[in-house]
Amino acid sequence: MNVLLLGAGGREHALAWKLSQSPKTTKLFTAPGNAGTEECGENVSLNIDDFNEVKSFVIQNKIKMVVVGPEAPLVNGFHDNFLKDDLLKSIPVIGPTKQGAELEGSKDFAKGFMKKCNIPTAAYQTFDKEGLEKSYRFLETMKAPYVLKADGLAAGKGVLILDDINEAKAEMKEMLENAKFGEASKKVVVEEFLSGIELSVFVLADGNSYKILPSAKDYKRIGEGDTGLNTGGMGSISPVPFADKTFMDKIKNKIIKPTIEGLKTEGLNYKGFIFFGLINVEGEPFVIEYNVRMGDPEAESVIPRIKSDLMDLFEGVAEGNIADREIEIDERYCASVFLVAGGYPEKYEKGNVMTGFENVNDSILFHAGTKKDFKSGQILTNGGRVLAVSSFGETMKSALETSYKNVELIQFKGKNFRKDLGKDLLNFF
Ligand code: AMP
Ligand code: GLY
Repeated sequence: MNVLLLGAGGREHALAWKLSQSPKTTKLFTAPGNAGTEECGENVSLNIDDFNEVKSFVIQNKIKMVVVGPEAPLVNGFHDNFLKDDLLKSIPVIGPTKQGAELEGSKDFAKGFMKKCNIPTAAYQTFDKEGLEKSYRFLETMKAPYVLKADGLAAGKGVLILDDINEAKAEMKEMLENAKFGEASKKVVVEEFLSGIELSVFVLADGNSYKILPSAKDYKRIGEGDTGLNTGGMGSISPVPFADKTFMDKIKNKIIKPTIEGLKTEGLNYKGFIFFGLINVEGEPFVIEYNVRMGDPEAESVIPRIKSDLMDLFEGVAEGNIADREIEIDERYCASVFLVAGGYPEKYEKGNVMTGFENVNDSILFHAGTKKDFKSGQILTNGGRVLAVSSFGETMKSALETSYKNVELIQFKGKNFRKDLGKDLLNFF
């Protein structure tokens, strides 16, 4: 069948790489895609906010499945538009409807949902402009550090963790009264700080049942030892060594099952990925956040470990029979190291020529911010996070060694990467 994939990052290249290997895929279109997804099918420019444009493309190209990579179209009701249209309603969309996407689109909704379902998460209260004074009183009952979260999507910048209570109060005022994050901070969640080590767990849900995908740990900060500014992700490792059977069973019973049941109770026919952003607090898992998509950079180490046909699993999602589908996971480690542009996540250059791809033969190269210059045939950098180098290994150490060896073979002006991935996990072996 013909498939349309939405998105342009490393996650989408990982999905495109996997979907293009399926015998069920006839032709894969990625909108807008990057130089990597171009190798897996055809990149197309589509204004996904223009429903008529999407509709004509889907009909003309006989698209039989749409896979949504990022959260924004889902939060904006992309899936709902398909369900409302007589010609498109039978075409499955992998990704929840607007209401289900609120799990990521509204922190207050997500916290309320967890509370209702008894899912372990940090204690919290939500405030709006009228509740500013009340939020100060609530902060006074809490211990530092103070965690403040803009309710809506804020491009990953909406979470503030502050040591000083006066600063926390000032930021509450900035967010609620002065719209620091625009509409996103009309409401703010104030929550208890949890101390532990984070991990990401993913499931594919079909509205009724689910399959658990491999766990992963991502590296968010630009600097070694988790220092410096936050980024879109500097790499990932799958599986997470401390996510052993006992811990995964706790996640399944205390978090995944109640989430799936809760979605059913709410009447949400949730079809797509659920990303559980978790923290391990002395052996107990807590939910930090939900996302309604695969993680990036986690996809670049998780997707390669799925041995089964991902199209078959997506068909299971569409048909509501994922429980009957096989999922086989590669037991090996996969480590993914991100090459980023010099200066990122602050000011950086685009358009630098990349070389050395042909010298890499034992890693998978997932493109993120890249584009092909069709005149010269060269690959150019086209974003802050440029390329993920993903490798398998019997051990975490050997997977990392292969990625780091190949990182040296890819060249572009200003190339930067973190050299310490996995160091924080060594004491869990
Ligand atoms: P979020 O956008 O909700 O993922 O938050 C961004 C980051 O802030 C998370 O990945 C955590 O590292 C951190 N964080 C969020 N909530 C908490 C919390 N309650 N306790 C400790 N750290 C948190
Ligand atoms: N790796 C975190 C995210 O995808 O949001």
